[in-house]
Amino acid sequence: MNGDRYLTFALCKGRLAKQTLALLEQMGITCEEMKDKDSRKLIFVNEELKLKFFLAKGPDVPTYVEYGAADIGVVGKDTILEEHRKVHEVLDLKFGKCRMCVCGPEESRRCLENRELIRVATKYPGIAKDYFYNVRHQTVEIIKLNGSIELAPIVGLSEVIVDIVETGATLRENGLTVLEEVCPLSARMIVNPVSMRLENKRIKELILNMRRLLDEEA
Ligand code: PRP
Repeated sequence: MNGDRYLTFALCKGRLAKQTLALLEQMGITCEEMKDKDSRKLIFVNEELKLKFFLAKGPDVPTYVEYGAADIGVVGKDTILEEHRKVHEVLDLKFGKCRMCVCGPEESRRCLENRELIRVATKYPGIAKDYFYNVRHQTVEIIKLNGSIELAPIVGLSEVIVDIVETGATLRENGLTVLEEVCPLSARMIVNPVSMRLENKRIKELILNMRRLLDEEA
């Protein structure tokens, strides 16, 4: 039924992968091998459905999909916006919902209002640059960090940060606040453009089934 070719999924390690696997399981697509926590295996196969799965670091998922090493990927919209890879974004999976925001201490609001030449610390320099230059038309200095971004305004590295806000707890506990919202985020399914043509029927069917399930849950 499914032909001989495997469809390969690249999933973003962590919570998004777990939620994606739970969704696939609801559709009858399981991968028992992946549930073995002690396994050191990197690739998991469902022989019956001719599917392969692997876990990758978030920012690497669009790379695997652009080059066709994976046909399909599931990753956050933040990563898609930051990486600018040549992939088709085909479905909003509606989980992993959060927001990309400009945050800082309340005093930094004035620097935004006055369009001062401030420093912006972020893990997402592409998104931050696009927002400040093309949306706010404000010249800023962008400083790339790799984590614990909230530290930057606290220790005086930057006036504001551009970062993901989910519950807002990290901001609250550190005396920071959301100053502006850049965009809403959630998990998305991406597809390699060539795979989309070669495996059109299988991929379209998968997208349709997923969309139906997500609509039922909404
Ligand atoms: C993310 C994000 C914020 C935090 C927001 O960090 O960068 O720090 O979660 O969540 P909250 O609004 O629910 O507090 P993550 O845990 O991914 O770690 P990081 O510091 O490596 O970015």
